[in-house]
Amino acid sequence: PEAITVQELANRMAARGGEVVKALFRMGVMATLTQSIDADTAELVVQEFGHRVRRVSESDVEIGLEGMEDTDTDLQPRPPVVTIMGHVDHGKTSLLDALRKTDVVAHEAGGITQHIGAYQITVPDGSKVTFIDTPGHEAFTAMRARGASVTDMVVLVVAADDGVMPQTIEAIRHAKAAGVPLIVAVNKIDKPGVKPDRVKQELLQHEVVVESLGGDTQEIEVSATQRINLDKLLEAISLQAEVLDLKANPNRAAEGTVIESKLDRGRGPVATVLVQKGTLKQGDIVVAGAEWGRVRAMLDDKGRQLKDAPPSLPVEILGLSGVPSAGDNFIAVENEARAREVSEFRQRRAREKATAALGARGSLNDMLAR
Ligand code: GTP
Ligand code: MG
Repeated sequence: PEAITVQELANRMAARGGEVVKALFRMGVMATLTQSIDADTAELVVQEFGHRVRRVSESDVEIGLEGMEDTDTDLQPRPPVVTIMGHVDHGKTSLLDALRKTDVVAHEAGGITQHIGAYQITVPDGSKVTFIDTPGHEAFTAMRARGASVTDMVVLVVAADDGVMPQTIEAIRHAKAAGVPLIVAVNKIDKPGVKPDRVKQELLQHEVVVESLGGDTQEIEVSATQRINLDKLLEAISLQAEVLDLKANPNRAAEGTVIESKLDRGRGPVATVLVQKGTLKQGDIVVAGAEWGRVRAMLDDKGRQLKDAPPSLPVEILGLSGVPSAGDNFIAVENEARAREVSEFRQRRAREKATAALGARGSLNDMLAR
């Protein structure tokens, strides 16, 4: 029974059609704006958007007023989420480490402790910045393929002594495809004889025009190891963040993306998640990918136990039934019954997709065998 078109559903939720298509994609449903989806699927989408659903008939859903999409007054500023990309050995890790050491709070807390796939620092002016320490382009591609968009901007690291290289170009392409702005960090300027200006010229060939050449891409010359101009880079990030006017409603059920996950011997499944909407609370029941559970404990990148995680904060959560995948969506839900329902739905979709893929491969094999 086909109930409602994707566009109509989006209209009813006052959401963008593209967002609904993306939500469906995350659930394993491929649909365009004009296609119809059944009421069961629509109901799940509506709940994923944080709305309450009323079934008005077997095949139709009505969206309750309780959970209307966030209005302007609900939205509050949130810290930017920044991904650092660049060619091998150009200094991404060194830069992340150096920036991490500028964290005023980390110093107060007695230094850096554990490594998780993302961390948040507090800069001297008191504002916060979240950095995602992804293992690089593949993770980025995988997340984008899953419809997950986690980063607000990309800091492109280009070593002044090496210039624009294949993975630099790839990073530019990724950022453009994802529609996120770039900030260029020309690194290793401490090295004798390097020519940062050459990098700017090379970038021009890839349609990245830095400000000093009349474009609108900010560029900062830095040295990660000599700690030169880190403050300027942070300023560039906060300027870009201001332009983007980043906001989220902290007062709603949490939603976000799994950044990384693992099975820990002592602690069981551990997932690092980025909260993107709402506030995640210890004790919340969450569904992450097809896994679910009660958040038994929540830790920040400094190993501190948290009770609440607001938008843009990456946290490690314990208590899931299994290990979700990077790029999986997570949502906090009302109760265990609901969690089971969403989890089963996602498992069913995943199985259907796998079967479909197998079927496709099967027929391809048949064809090849002939
Ligand atoms: P991959 O993760 O392998 O892609 O490399 P990366 O981009 O993370 O580079 P990494 O930070 O590991 O740095 C590579 C090498 O460059 C190391 O030997 C660093 O010490 C050196 N390096 C990084 N930043 C600077 C810098 O600002 N100046 C100088 N002189 N060397 C640097
Ligand atoms: Mg590295």
